[in-house]
Amino acid sequence: MVGTTIATKLVSLGHEVVMGSRSASNDKSAAWLAGLSANADKASAGTFADAATFGELLFNCTSGGASLAALNLAGTDNIAGKILIDIANPLDFSQGMPPRLSISNDSSLGEQIQAAFPKTKVVKTLNTLSCELMVEPSKLAGAHTIFMSGDDAEAKATVERTILREAFGWADVIDLGDISTARGTEMFLPLWVRTWAALGTADFNIHVVRAK
Ligand SMILES: NC(=O)c1ccc[n+]([C@@H]2O[C@H](COP(=O)([O-])OP(=O)(O)OC[C@H]3O[C@@H](n4cnc5c(N)ncnc54)[C@H](OP(=O)(O)O)[C@@H]3O)[C@@H](O)[C@H]2O)c1
Repeated sequence: MVGTTIATKLVSLGHEVVMGSRSASNDKSAAWLAGLSANADKASAGTFADAATFGELLFNCTSGGASLAALNLAGTDNIAGKILIDIANPLDFSQGMPPRLSISNDSSLGEQIQAAFPKTKVVKTLNTLSCELMVEPSKLAGAHTIFMSGDDAEAKATVERTILREAFGWADVIDLGDISTARGTEMFLPLWVRTWAALGTADFNIHVVRAK
């Protein structure tokens, strides 16, 4: 869901996108390709390794509990030196709803990915709201906030400018600091899930209001 939403938006803007998966002949990827209208010639699908090899900029939109496995399939060497935008949350649905966090407090999925792949520049962002709002923040009236975490300042600046502001239209971006600050945005998910249940819609976000 997240992968196809991000990919559709990027393809519509004229970027070339390879959708990765565990299997090159994946039904969901095929359905995504078949449903594209604008710039469909810019889109293709393959394995996680195919996507990692092709992409200048990578997105991790995999299930949080499987992200390390998926990135291992992508290949350590294929993702080395590249920016990886990590959108995954470590949600554990094994005991039903609401999900638990499988990683929390003194670690985060973002940190675990950065530690496992030290040559990759992990930037955690966009994980605090629904995928429709990630790529279309103007769906909500007024200002609202997106967070960013990562150890590499240049990588964060690139993600903020090219993806968050220029491609998706975010105006209020808060750089929280190094990748350990991903603990905060990942631990926001229990509140996000309860707010979603209370409002009956995923069309909401938080706005950090500063003093004038
Ligand atoms: N849904 C939202 O609006 C939203 C918002 C914020 C953050 N997120 C986070 O974004 C991520 C993606 O969410 P989603 O709902 O789009 O998809 P999802 O169902 O959580 O994950 C699907 C992806 O995970 C891969 N995957 C699943 N099990 C795997 C395994 N054992 N080994 C390797 N890869 C595996 C799948 O690969 P295959 O293609 O091979 O099946 C597919 O790429 C999640 O971490 C979620 O918490 C979601």
